[in-house]
Amino acid sequence: MSFKDKIDLNRLPRHVAVIMDGNGRWAKKQGRLRTFGHESGVTSVRETAEAAAELGIENLTLYAFSTENWNRPRHEVEALMHLLIRTINNEMKTLNQNNIRLFAIGNLKALNKNTYKHLLKAIDDTKTNARMNLILALSYSSHDEIVEAAREIAQKVKNNELAVEDINDNTISKHLYTKDFPDPELLIRTSGEYRISNFLMWQLAYAELYFTPKLWPDFRREDFYEAIVNFQCRERRFGRTSEQVSEKVKL
Ligand code: FPP
Repeated sequence: MSFKDKIDLNRLPRHVAVIMDGNGRWAKKQGRLRTFGHESGVTSVRETAEAAAELGIENLTLYAFSTENWNRPRHEVEALMHLLIRTINNEMKTLNQNNIRLFAIGNLKALNKNTYKHLLKAIDDTKTNARMNLILALSYSSHDEIVEAAREIAQKVKNNELAVEDINDNTISKHLYTKDFPDPELLIRTSGEYRISNFLMWQLAYAELYFTPKLWPDFRREDFYEAIVNFQCRERRFGRTSEQVSEKVKL
């Protein structure tokens, strides 16, 4: 029996975020270059995106490249950028067939011109798709995102467009890259690492965290379904007691 059969389609997370980790270790285990691991990870990206869209998940965010990743050896960074362009171009047909809309979050201006150009074109070419948002975090840093939001808010206060006492949770959320999406309810991280790694730190405040030892290139649809089943077994309390949750007490 597949984990898919155990999924309650009425209780799906609206937004799943994924830290795709372990490409390098996967490649090393087979005596191959790290870049082979990244290339092999594309199959996992495709399977995960298709599985999420078919289930009816509205938003899927994939951590594809962090600001810290710029510090990797130059050839690896270049290989990742080429792979990104190639994958986006190759997957356009699948994205459109599956009615998936592409978005990107992060310091996109830091990408090289060619990567940025292809990315913007793909985003534009999928803008009428409405089944699922596929959000790529690229040159992304949660700290930078929050600093940028703080600067924008401070500027508005300075311009008398916003009063200090009116700043609340929502003000912060509406100044983040993710302002158009609900916060993720589930974070999946592969490769047995138990870290958030500067990813969506504000947005993950109430997310359920799911860690699997599988390395990203080995991650398949069935692993994604398993994560969803695991999520649905959790009791999401948001600070309330277990009794309050089970009695559906209104606060
Ligand atoms: C982490 O593994 C993975 C990345 C930094 C890149 C993820 C990229 C892909 C899966 C390929 C293309 C993706 C898209 C969305 C087109 P790691 O290199 O840190 O692995 P390690 O921890 O084993 O060294």
